[in-house]
Amino acid sequence: MSLRCITLADSPALLGLWNEAAEHDQLSESLLNEKIWGDADFDSSLALVEEQESQIQAMAVAVCRQQKDGCTAYVKLLATNPLKQRQGLATRLLAAIETRLKSLGAEQCRIGESAPNYLTPGVDLRYTQAIEFFSQGGFEPFSQACNMRVDLSARSPQEVSQSDLGVIRATPLDVPAVKDFLLQHWPSWWDEVQKAMLNDPATLFIAYDGPAVVGFAAYDANNLGTGWFGPMGTAPECRGRGIGVALLKECLADMATKYPTAIIPWVGPVDFYAKHVGATMSRSFQRFRKPLSK
Ligand SMILES: CC(C)(COP(=O)(O)OP(=O)(O)OC[C@H]1O[C@@H](n2cnc3c(N)ncnc32)[C@H](O)[C@@H]1OP(=O)(O)O)[C@@H](O)C(=O)NCCC(=O)NCCS
Repeated sequence: MSLRCITLADSPALLGLWNEAAEHDQLSESLLNEKIWGDADFDSSLALVEEQESQIQAMAVAVCRQQKDGCTAYVKLLATNPLKQRQGLATRLLAAIETRLKSLGAEQCRIGESAPNYLTPGVDLRYTQAIEFFSQGGFEPFSQACNMRVDLSARSPQEVSQSDLGVIRATPLDVPAVKDFLLQHWPSWWDEVQKAMLNDPATLFIAYDGPAVVGFAAYDANNLGTGWFGPMGTAPECRGRGIGVALLKECLADMATKYPTAIIPWVGPVDFYAKHVGATMSRSFQRFRKPLSK
């Protein structure tokens, strides 16, 4: 076995390996590329494969994100050919990546959850081997996360906006007000929202109260082509006025023109989505963290 950094030419082999190993996260070529090379923090020294006779048998892709409280590493993709599992391949890949992460100053490592560009908010509980792998590899399970889904084919296009405030699709003229609003309330979401803004037409809806933006809802900002909703938010002082529901329904109505199903990922307020748009729980994830001692 030999270990090396990935190159763009590996893309078809990586896609084949990933889809063979990860049955609950089947990727298209464009989605694989978005997750790897489309990540603003992509670093080829953190994207490794194990090869045997020129065949890729295992892959691991991680990134380091500089945040205000330090540098956190995220393992975005990790898979071993099902015929080569339990032979220590993933252990060797992760050990090599951890050594590199430490030299880059990463203080801890998480699995998935590499917002704004992430595939899952943790390890799907159905990947029993992966849960075991990370638990045995010094990762601490610390919380769970869930995705919800909404059947868009059952939604009526008229089912929109009940708020007294105007909900509009964002245009380039709205950029300064939206950016101010995001930087004030959710600075870490600005990258994702900006992506939705740059789609043509924008996949971002906003609510104004006079000249001020008071809420937003976006889709197609991450995992393009999958029906990925979010993020969304209402200014804390404006909650309880129906703004979030109006934004959510407007966004889902627009998504229904393109997708049969909406994925509402990494959900906080489960009741809100269940009550207002009939969302149901679809996936559960175990979150893991590991301190990277120097
Ligand atoms: C998770 C995965 C990458 C592990 O790859 P691997 O190359 O088989 O892992 P290793 O051989 O290095 O396993 C190391 C340890 O993990 C645990 N482990 C791995 N597979 C296991 C299994 N099927 N059952 C129980 N424990 C397992 C064991 O503790 C093992 O050590 P041991 O063999 O000495 O008991 C692989 O199972 C896989 O590709 N799964 C599907 C994709 C996935 O779930 N990826 C994670 C989400 S990002």
